Amino acid sequence: MSKVVVFDHPLIQHKLSILRDEKTSVKVFRELISEIAMLMCYEATRDLPLEEIEVKTPVAVAKCRRIAGKKLAVVPILRAGLGMVDGMVSMMPNVKVGHIGLYRDPATKEPVKYYFKMPADIAERDVIVVDPMLATGGSAAAAIDFLKEAGAKHIKLMSIIGAPEGVARMQEAHPDVDIFVAAMDDHLNENAYIVPGLGDAGDRIFGTK
Ligand code: PRP
Ligand code: URA
Repeated sequence: MSKVVVFDHPLIQHKLSILRDEKTSVKVFRELISEIAMLMCYEATRDLPLEEIEVKTPVAVAKCRRIAGKKLAVVPILRAGLGMVDGMVSMMPNVKVGHIGLYRDPATKEPVKYYFKMPADIAERDVIVVDPMLATGGSAAAAIDFLKEAGAKHIKLMSIIGAPEGVARMQEAHPDVDIFVAAMDDHLNENAYIVPGLGDAGDRIFGTK
């Protein structure tokens, strides 16, 4: 069974409280999504392998550790996942970025794929899928199906807000994929929106409502 990590760091929780507020502007909402993704990135990459190197300081030779050339990819689920990419890239400037376009059919609530573009060597990369909302889990589970079809083997999911329903669906479909969230909310409403959640993440990032 996969690991579910809920971040309780005060900085993340403080930013999340502003993010949820319906009065928060598009500008601030965008900035917060990016900042929270950056903070979550620290923990989600905690298991990156390190190698020992020697570095000559102005005083002496220091034994240091650096990331051991692990190949990574960040894969946002469009649209809302795009909001998390800048924060991740600011922590990992050389990371490759793939894109999966999915939208939830308003009637069935099931994801519909419209775009899929990955780095050519995605099968050799560890992948972090990013999407602010894990509601029914349909989008995340489908995105990870497509990634596995493309050959990806080591995948993590990073969402800002999760619902128990989405976590359960993910764990059933992809028990090998660890899940990182900044908050685990209560339930889904009749429109499959997370309660209390933050509303429609894509609309709030891009100002489309
Ligand atoms: C939102 C969100 C997730 C999905 C979560 O995207 O960004 O991708 O819903 O819901 P689920 O867990 O029930 O699948 P949406 O389909 O609204 O598309 P958008 O990002 O283009 O607005
Ligand atoms: N997608 C969103 O953007 N918000 C929700 O609460 C659920 C799905």
